[in-house]
Amino acid sequence: MIEREQAEANRQMQMIETCRERIRQKSKKMGRPLTYHISTFGCQMNFKDSEKLAGILERLGYLAVETEEADFVLLNTCTVRENANQKVYGHLGQLKSYKKKNPDMMIALCGCMMQEQQVVTRIKERYRFVDIIFGTHNIYKLAELINNRLSSDAMIIDIWNDAKEIVEDLPTVRKFSFKAGVNIMFGCNNFCSYCIVPYVRGRERSREPEDIIKEIQQLVSEGVVEVMLLGQNVNSYGKNLEHPVSFAQLLQKVEEIPGLKRIRFMTSHPKDLSEELIQVMKHSDKICRHLHLPIQSGSTRLLDKMNRRYTKEQYLMLVERLRTAIPDLSLTTDIIVGFPGETEEDFLETIDVVKKAEYDSAYTFLYSKRTGTPAAVMEDQIPEAVAKERFLRLLSVVAETSAKRTAALVGQTVEVLVEERSEQDASMVTGRLSNNLLVHFIGEDTLIGSLQNVHLDESRGFYFLGSLA
Ligand code: 5AD
Ligand code: SF4
Repeated sequence: MIEREQAEANRQMQMIETCRERIRQKSKKMGRPLTYHISTFGCQMNFKDSEKLAGILERLGYLAVETEEADFVLLNTCTVRENANQKVYGHLGQLKSYKKKNPDMMIALCGCMMQEQQVVTRIKERYRFVDIIFGTHNIYKLAELINNRLSSDAMIIDIWNDAKEIVEDLPTVRKFSFKAGVNIMFGCNNFCSYCIVPYVRGRERSREPEDIIKEIQQLVSEGVVEVMLLGQNVNSYGKNLEHPVSFAQLLQKVEEIPGLKRIRFMTSHPKDLSEELIQVMKHSDKICRHLHLPIQSGSTRLLDKMNRRYTKEQYLMLVERLRTAIPDLSLTTDIIVGFPGETEEDFLETIDVVKKAEYDSAYTFLYSKRTGTPAAVMEDQIPEAVAKERFLRLLSVVAETSAKRTAALVGQTVEVLVEERSEQDASMVTGRLSNNLLVHFIGEDTLIGSLQNVHLDESRGFYFLGSLA
C-alpha cells in the first residue's frame, strides 16, 4: 500500500472515532441503540461494498436490523438496467414515510446510480429528505460523510469521477464467516456499447498482488475456506500495474495460500481469456470447476455492434478448448435479448450458441437503454413485445440445456461447501458444488461452513436433492 493510501486510511479511522462518540451521545439521549439497514441492488461488487459499509456502521455503534424502518438506511444502488433505478425510487417513496415518523432518521444513497449526474439532480430536486449521496469511489469515507451531515443542515453530496486512492484497510462485516469476496480490480475499460459500467465505475485499476494475498491470508486466518476474486473483467487483471502480473499468475499465488480450499472468480471476458489461464485452471486443486463467460449475443453482426471484440465462432472455439482441457467444467453466461437491430436471424444464432455451449445456467436480460451509451442512440430499437417473446423462447431453451447438464451428474458423490439452512425446507442445509450448482440435503447446523461429501440423489432442473455420503 502506498503512503498516501495509508495516511487516508488513518484519517478515516480518526473520523470513525469522532463519529462513534457523536452516535454514542445520540443513543444515550434516545435511551436506545441506533439501528441501521443496508439494501443492496446489483452485482457481487455491490454486495462486497455493502459489507465494508456495514463494517463502518457497526464500528460507529449502529445495530443491524432487518427492516428499512431504521435510524440509518443506506441504499447501495445499481444502474446497469433501468428497472434497477426504478426500484430505488420506489424504496425512496417508502423511506419518506418512515422519516416522517422518525425525523432523526438518516437516509443515504450510494453506488453506481449515484455516479450519474441526472440522477443526483433529480434526487436534489424531488427527494430533498435524502441526507447523504456518495458514489462508488469513496465508500470508505462513510464516517466522514455522516460527521459532515451531523454538522450541517444540508444534503451532503460527495461524488468523484475517478478513484483517487484505493483504501481497503477499514472494518468490514462479512455475511458468511467461511467464504468471502475479494476485490482484485475496479472499473472497466471495455466500453461494450450497451453498458454503463465504464462510465460509472471508471477506468480499470488493479490492486497489487501483495495486497490481495495479504487480505486472503488474513481471511483464511479468520476461518475463510473459499474466496471469490472479483472484477468486471478479471482476465485483464494486472496489465496496468507497475510490475505487470497476469491473472493466471495471481491465481497461482492465491493457490499457494495454506488453509484456503476453494478459489472462484468472476467475471471473465471471452476476448481476454488466455491459454495460460486454461492451463492453470486445469492443473489446479483449488480453482472451482466453474467459469462465467458472458456471450451477450450469438450473432457476430450484433457482437460487433456491441463492441465485444469476438465472433460467434471464436467464442465457440474457446468453449471447445475449455471443454477439452477441463471436461467437468461448468459454464454459465449472460445474454441480452432485444439489442438494437436484433433480427429473428440474430436471435436464432443466440439460441444456437446456447444449445452448442450447453450452459449450466444463463442470466438472461432484456436490453435496457442506458442514456449516454452508444447503443442508446442506435437506430432500430426493438419493440418491447418482440423482445419479450424472444426472451421467453430463450428461457425455455436455457432451462432445457441446464436440466440436461444437471441430470447427467445424478448418482455422483461430490464435495460441497455447506453454506446455510435451506430456504425451501428447514430440515435441510444447502451446499455448493465446485461447479457452483446447489444441493439441498438433510443436515445439522454444525455442518455449515464445512466441506462435505454429498450424494446427488435427484435433479430438480437448476439444483439437486442429495444425502450426506
Ligand atoms: N441492458 C441489458 N443488460 C445489460 N447488461 C449490461 N448492460 C445492459 C443493458 N444496458 C447485462 C450484461 C452484463 C450483465 C452484468 O448485465 O449481460 O454481462
Ligand atoms: Fe460492461 Fe462490457 Fe465492461 Fe462487462 S466488460 S462491465 S458488459 S463494458
